[in-house]
Amino acid sequence: MLRRDGPRHVWAALRDGPSGLAAPGVSCDAMSPRAKHQAPAAPRTAIGIDVGGTGVKAAVVDLETGALASPRLRVKTPQPATPESVVEVVGGIVDQLVADGHVTPGMPAGAGLPGVVKAGRLLTAANIDKSWIDAPAEAMLTARLGRPVRLVNDADAAGLAEATFGAAKGVPGTVLLLTIGTGIGSALFIDGHLLDSTEFGHVTYRGRDAETLVSGAARERRRIGWKKWGREFSEYMALLERWFWPDLIILGGGVSKEYAKYSRFLTSRAPIVTAQYLNTSGIVGAGLAAAGVGIAAAVIAREDAPGPGTGASRRAGGDGAAATRAAAQAAEVAASLVIEDQPTH
Ligand code: BGC
Repeated sequence: MLRRDGPRHVWAALRDGPSGLAAPGVSCDAMSPRAKHQAPAAPRTAIGIDVGGTGVKAAVVDLETGALASPRLRVKTPQPATPESVVEVVGGIVDQLVADGHVTPGMPAGAGLPGVVKAGRLLTAANIDKSWIDAPAEAMLTARLGRPVRLVNDADAAGLAEATFGAAKGVPGTVLLLTIGTGIGSALFIDGHLLDSTEFGHVTYRGRDAETLVSGAARERRRIGWKKWGREFSEYMALLERWFWPDLIILGGGVSKEYAKYSRFLTSRAPIVTAQYLNTSGIVGAGLAAAGVGIAAAVIAREDAPGPGTGASRRAGGDGAAATRAAAQAAEVAASLVIEDQPTH
């Protein structure tokens, strides 16, 4: 899978495991033994939530190992997937995790969503209901879950999981993760530090928004085979390489599971590997983001600043009709809950 003609230091890091370079989880002092001693308040577990086009998934994440510390629960994404309906579904899942005794009071939560995240809101919504744009999503989730919630871009979340525990752990230099599914998401790391909210799925490729031509969904819509898709995807990667010169490219998302079918059609300067986390990267990364692991302090400060019109939109409580609606929704969520799998340890 990994091509051996890549830069030597990347090879060495991959072969030898973590080098002297600290992965994000370690570099931000949340996980090292020394930091644990100095900052006993750093959470060891967090709730990770992954909001996708077809499913909303959540589990408790062990931040020291990247393993799931509860079953992974999943509910179909409600349609239309408005902030209100999705927040209610997330609430139902977390209520279940609480009821089953997996969640401690005050345990933070992180939620990954497909869009640019700034100041607790989505600024773009290419593959999710447009009503997310500028909705006070972080405040809505915080109010519904009754605990601190951090919003994070879904690809950044996947990248945090890979950089802290997976394919990018300890890899120095510039690492580019591309998630290939309904859209194309990106996460860029420099010496283990995330440059958040890159949106490389939307660079112009052949005169179009790249993800409309080379995402997994686009391949199916265009009915093109792996060979043609692989060649086009390589051209697209070449564009990114000309601008960012990554030392390692990690492919994630649904299409990375089919890697054997197209790896021989891919060309790139940097070595390519597939993500190590296939189904849980979004959850694990959102949990890490909840604890501030791998997220630059400057980003946290910026995102915590009140945005225009921010104000916690409290869950309807006093209004009887709204409360009845919420109760009915909660019952619906509970009825459709699926336990996807059990903890990984
Ligand atoms: C969105 C990104 C997201 C990616 C993968 C793109 O359409 O703009 O924010 O990371 O899809 O879900």
